[in-house]
Amino acid sequence: MDIEYRGATEGDMDQVRALLATVRGDPERLSHRRCLVACAHGEVIGCVRIKELATGGKELSSLAVAGDWRNRGIGSRLVSSLLSMEPSRPLYLLCFAEREAFYARHGFSVISPDELPAAMRDEYSRVAAALAGAGHKVIAMILVR
Ligand SMILES: CC(C)(COP(=O)(O)OP(=O)(O)OC[C@H]1O[C@@H](n2cnc3c(N)ncnc32)[C@H](O)[C@@H]1OP(=O)(O)O)[C@@H](O)C(=O)NCCC(=O)NCCS
Repeated sequence: MDIEYRGATEGDMDQVRALLATVRGDPERLSHRRCLVACAHGEVIGCVRIKELATGGKELSSLAVAGDWRNRGIGSRLVSSLLSMEPSRPLYLLCFAEREAFYARHGFSVISPDELPAAMRDEYSRVAAALAGAGHKVIAMILVR
């Protein structure tokens, strides 16, 4: 199966939002700009984006791959394409603790939530509190080069 990787268009965004909703992904200030999608049969099966933080700084956000398409390298390809497209560093992200090795393969390392830009510290508190009840630990990571 051929999978197409490309920049998102406005017309993709309903499918991107629907995909993010299935994984409780972050739809805040979502735009097709700085968003990449993976498509199969003309459908969006994966997405990732750069989110500009209100207080300055950039976050890798909204990574999702549809359930049937996981564990084939699609998520990794989306992340490496996004990192090539977005040269500015540092980049930050929040993720489940069990995803640390996945992002470490792309050069990210764990930091204390105190080291996050101000806008992300608030986001971290919200996300960590929301997911703690479900037994998920959330970590903060940074890519410096
Ligand atoms: C996280 C997520 C985006 C990963 O997408 P994916 O397409 O499955 O990612 P990859 O296939 O590149 O990598 C997943 C695993 O498959 C392995 N893999 C990569 N290519 C592979 C291949 N060709 N064949 C088999 N396995 C492969 C990777 O080594 C990786 O192993 P790991 O989980 O131990 O790190 C996906 O699981 C998802 O959408 N999860 C729900 C939302 C989420 O958690 N988003 C991230 C926010 S923290």
